[in-house]
Amino acid sequence: MLVGFAFGAETGKTFGAYAAENVVSPISLLAICLPVFYFVGFYTKGRAYSTSYKPFFVAQVSALAVLGWGFLLFMLGRNVESSRSLVMSTGVMSVLLTVGARIWSMVWVKVNQKSMVRSTASAGAFDEYRPKSVLVIGGAGYIGSGLLKKLLDKGYRVRLVDAFMFGEEPIAQVAGHENLEVVRADFRQIDKIVESMRGMDAVVHLGAIVGDPACALDEDFTIEVNLMATQMIAECAKGFGIQKFIFASTCSVYGASDEVLNEKSQLNPVSLYARSKIACERVLLEMQDEKFRPTILRFGTVFGLSGRTRFDLVVNLLTAKAIVDGKITVFGEDQWRPFVHVDDASLAVATALEAPLEVIGGQTFNVGADEGNYTLGQVGRLIQKFVPTAELIASGSDGDRRNYRVDFSKIRNLIGFKTQWTLEMGVKQVIEAFEAGKVTDYNAPQYSNVKLLSEEASSKGLQTEAQRLRNMVEEAAYDQGILRTN
Ligand SMILES: NC(=O)c1ccc[n+]([C@@H]2O[C@H](COP(=O)([O-])OP(=O)(O)OC[C@H]3O[C@@H](n4cnc5c(N)ncnc54)[C@H](O)[C@@H]3O)[C@@H](O)[C@H]2O)c1
Repeated sequence: MLVGFAFGAETGKTFGAYAAENVVSPISLLAICLPVFYFVGFYTKGRAYSTSYKPFFVAQVSALAVLGWGFLLFMLGRNVESSRSLVMSTGVMSVLLTVGARIWSMVWVKVNQKSMVRSTASAGAFDEYRPKSVLVIGGAGYIGSGLLKKLLDKGYRVRLVDAFMFGEEPIAQVAGHENLEVVRADFRQIDKIVESMRGMDAVVHLGAIVGDPACALDEDFTIEVNLMATQMIAECAKGFGIQKFIFASTCSVYGASDEVLNEKSQLNPVSLYARSKIACERVLLEMQDEKFRPTILRFGTVFGLSGRTRFDLVVNLLTAKAIVDGKITVFGEDQWRPFVHVDDASLAVATALEAPLEVIGGQTFNVGADEGNYTLGQVGRLIQKFVPTAELIASGSDGDRRNYRVDFSKIRNLIGFKTQWTLEMGVKQVIEAFEAGKVTDYNAPQYSNVKLLSEEASSKGLQTEAQRLRNMVEEAAYDQGILRTN
């Protein structure tokens, strides 16, 4: 229209004469644009195009609309001479202005995102981004038991879905809390997941078969629990319009490498556990759109005490061995590993929950601190400092090839996450627990995922899908009286 007025000025016409003559043009252009934009998908799929393609798509669509307009004017023919002559210049201007507006809106989002990142990092949590209710799946384990308490203390309404593989002891501290609802279920059951999603604002998915040895016990079962269930849970969350979805992955995805690795580094998994987590990450990120913005947290190797302490992880295990057996046997002493305290792992989840979706949506973060990278030999020596009576034995390799040093700057810079615990503090915490008699038999199955799964899985309610379906058929038969024998 602006071009039209300029054109009018050039030809010496008055504004009134020009407007009267041309008022049909912008209106007819608008009338063409709206249906063309609609049918080409400008208002729907155009929104989902990635940034580089978006201006090109916008240019295509507006050029098409102007061509359609020109064609219409040409076909109408009568009394629209000056409008027809304006088609070219209007077309060029429209394309430039629409593409310009799109580029500006993208720049504006980026500028805004940067300022959000700055304020999140400096001011910590942001109340306006906080969901009110959170569904925690697999929250009765090592990390989850601490997370539940943290979320309840912060005033969230929390719903927990867990099969309680390790019993109910891990959540004893929060059991009965007025804001905690407990759903005892296998998270592979879609009906339970659908029921549990109702009324929730965010999902944290921690549930899995965890650790290389536990995952190797039954590969099909691992894929069912770790991958297939994750996809189903994410689809349900998406169906319910839950945008914030936080998924627990692991730095084990980096496998073996001599580099310092960040979120963009090549993955080199050396176990089914790590491969299953990589597959989950990919499935989740592929499902991403404007309504579903998953966030991947790759935790370092966890240490320290929680409601369900594990003694199958290297720091806790070596500390326990030093105290109880008087020996610290280190395999692969030159291998690097990033360590993070269990409280810090749940702090990272809580921080992500409070961060703006624009900052964390679709992002992957390593969870830990740069100073938490240690070789296993360094871990052994550090433990010996606190338990000097223990003998330090370097014992070659036990076959675990994992060796990775990780960069944690992204989570620090983007959402202001800082760990509160050092490795020394965690080792001391474990030693104090032994001294206070809180832990006696660190070899007991409840402290080890692989032991528990191999010895007690069925009695704790986790069974393979085939077993579960068989049981359901039998239960149904009993209900109908078919199998009643007396
Ligand atoms: N602990 C670590 O060192 C570490 C490191 C990196 C990543 N992670 C990830 O963090 C998450 C939590 O780890 P964790 O150490 O707390 O594990 P965990 O084994 O202590 O807890 C897992 C929880 O999931 C539940 N669960 C498993 N399968 C289930 C099913 N089919 N239905 C219902 N509940 C089920 C268990 O009952 C348990 O409460 C996992 O996804 C893990 O891969 C942990």
